[in-house]
Amino acid sequence: MLTKGKPGVLEVNVNLGTEQEPDVSSFTFPTTFRAISGANSGGQPLFGRAEQAIIHGSEGLNYANDVVASEESDDLPEIVRWSTDGVTLKPNARNVSNAVSAQGLDESIPNPDGISDWLWQWGQFMDHDLTEVPQHGNASAFDISVTTESDPFFVQIEAESIGTANELEAPGWITLARSEFEPGTQEPLNEISGLVDAGTVYGNTEARLAELMAEDALGDDGTGRLATSEAANGSPLLPLNSNGFCNGPSADGGPDSDLLPFFFLGGDIRAQEQLNLAVIHTLWVREHNYWADIIRASDDDLTGAEVFEMTRTIIQAEIQHIHYTEFLPIFVGAHNIPAYDGYNPEARPDADNVATGCAYRGGHTFISNSFPRTDDSGNDDPIMLRDGFFQPQEIFTHGLNPYLRGLSTQTCQAGDPLFVFDLRNLLLNGLDDLFARNIERGRDHGLPPLNVIRESLGLAPHTSFDDFQEPFGAALSRVYASVDDVECFSGMMSEVVESGSQFGDSQGLAIANQWLAIRDGDEFYYENILTGDLLAQIQGTTLADVIERNADTPGSITVPGSAFFASDVRDTLPLMSEEALLAKFGPREVAVEIA
Ligand code: HEM
Repeated sequence: MLTKGKPGVLEVNVNLGTEQEPDVSSFTFPTTFRAISGANSGGQPLFGRAEQAIIHGSEGLNYANDVVASEESDDLPEIVRWSTDGVTLKPNARNVSNAVSAQGLDESIPNPDGISDWLWQWGQFMDHDLTEVPQHGNASAFDISVTTESDPFFVQIEAESIGTANELEAPGWITLARSEFEPGTQEPLNEISGLVDAGTVYGNTEARLAELMAEDALGDDGTGRLATSEAANGSPLLPLNSNGFCNGPSADGGPDSDLLPFFFLGGDIRAQEQLNLAVIHTLWVREHNYWADIIRASDDDLTGAEVFEMTRTIIQAEIQHIHYTEFLPIFVGAHNIPAYDGYNPEARPDADNVATGCAYRGGHTFISNSFPRTDDSGNDDPIMLRDGFFQPQEIFTHGLNPYLRGLSTQTCQAGDPLFVFDLRNLLLNGLDDLFARNIERGRDHGLPPLNVIRESLGLAPHTSFDDFQEPFGAALSRVYASVDDVECFSGMMSEVVESGSQFGDSQGLAIANQWLAIRDGDEFYYENILTGDLLAQIQGTTLADVIERNADTPGSITVPGSAFFASDVRDTLPLMSEEALLAKFGPREVAVEIA
C-alpha cells in the first residue's frame, strides 16, 4: 500500500492568514541560468533542447518502421499495418478501444488508493513540459474508421453533425493526422525541451517569453513579474493572447478563431485545452509573481532581469521537487524512483518514443468525467469534462478557487484500461476517442508490440492473455489473435497493477526511465545546483503549499497533508443524468460486451 499523507480537507470561508513569508536574505542563487530553449550549457548542449527528434531510449529496441532513415528523405515513415503473422491486419483502433476501454456514460470507478484529481492534472501539466509533437501539415491523415455495426451511437451522431441524410448508413471517422517527423532521422519531432524547465510557465523561445512577461519586468527597477489578466473576482489569471501567438485550439496552433484574442497565453500552446489545465498554468504564474515580489523587496540593487532569473530558478526547482518526490512515487511507485545520485552527462533528458508515444499517456485513465467547482460559500457547480475544452470564460467567471477545491477533494479514477465517457467519445468538442488515438499514434510512431518492449525493458514477455488484469485479458483476446500481437498502449493499460504503483510493471518502468533520464541528465536539476537555505526551502515545499499561498484571496483554501490524496468530504459528484445526456447526444453507445 501507498503511504498516504493526511487527506486534504475541504474548508471554505475561513481566513487563517497566510504562512510566514520566507526570508530570502540567506538564499544563495547560482550565477548561471538555463537558456530558455532548455539547452544544457556544458558538454552536451543539444541534450534536452527544444526542436529535436524524440529518441529511442530503450537499448536494442527495434521499431516497426526503422526501415526509413535516409538522410535525404523527408517522406513520412511507413506505417506497419500487419500483425505478427505478416498477413492479418492489426485490429481497428476504435474496436480495440470498445473492447477494453469502454467506461459507461455515468460510470465512475474511484481510485482505490483515494488519490485526488491532482494526480492526472499534475501529470498532464508535466507532459506539456516534456513533449509537443506537431501534426504533419500536408494531407497525411490516417483516420480511424468507425463502423455502424460496432458503433451505431458514434456513427449516428457524427452523421447528424455533418448533416448526412441517411444517418446510420454513413461511415464514421475519427480524424487523425500523422505526427511531424524530423527530416533525415524520420523520428517524431518535439517542439519543446524535454527538460523539467517550467516551459509551461515560460515557453521555450525568447519571443514567447517576452510576451509572457509583465511590461515592467526587466531593467534596473523592473519587477521580474509575469503578465496577468484579471478574473471577475479581481484575482490574477494568465495574460490574454492579444498579439496572436501560436495557441490552441487549432491543430497547428495557429490562429483560426474569432475568439483567439480572448484566449489565455501560457508557456505552452495547450494551456486552456481543458479547464483544470488552465488552472494549474495560472497557479504557477501566481507562484512566480509571489516569489518575484519577495525577491524584489529584499534588495533594491537587483535588476529586473536578476529578479526574474532568480525567481525562475525557484519555480523550476519547486516543480522538479514536487514532480520527483511527491508525484512520481505515487504514480509509478517509490521502488521505481531511486534517490538522486548527481548529474550524469551520459543520460539523455529528451522525450522517449515508448514513454511519450505510449506509456506516459496512461495518465489518461485517471481523468474524471466531471469537475467539482465549490465556491467560497460552499456551493458546488460541477462541470462536465466535455463542456470545458477551450472555454477560458469559465475561468474568468469563477476564478481559481472552485477548481482548486475540486482538484484537491475529488478522488480520481482507477488505474485500469477504462477511460471515462467524454474522453473516449466526446474529446475536444467533437466525436473523438483518446484511447483509440493513443493506439493509432503508437502505430504512427512505429512502436513495436508490448512483448518486444517488455524484453527491451528487461522484463519477461507475456505468454498468455491470462497474464493481464481480469477481465481485460479476455477482452484483448477478442481483438488480438496472439498475445504477441498485443500492442503497446492497449497492453500496458491492461497489465496487472503493481503494489505501491498505479501501473503494471512495464508501464511503470517505462515512465520512470523517462523521468529519471530527464532528472539525471539535467545540469540544472535543483539538487545539483542549489545549496543551503535555498535548497532547504525547496525541499520543504509541497504542492499543497503552492495551492494555499496562491488562492484567489489569502487564506481562502487550506489543503492539509498531500494535495495528491483526496478529501473524503465528498467522493462522487452528481453527474449529468443519463436522460439529459441522451437528449443532448442521442442514444447510448452500444459497447462491445466483454466476454
Ligand atoms: C483532460 C485531460 C487530458 C486531455 C483532454 C488530453 C488529451 C490529449 C490529446 C488529444 C492528445 C493527442 C493524442 C494524439 O493524437 O496522439 C494527448 C497526448 C498526450 N497526452 Fe494527454 N490529455 C489529458 C491528460 C493527460 C495526462 C493526465 C497525461 C499523463 C499523465 C497525458 C499524457 C499525454 C502524452 C504523453 C501525450 C503525447 C504528447 C505528445 O506527444 O505531444 N495527458 N493528450
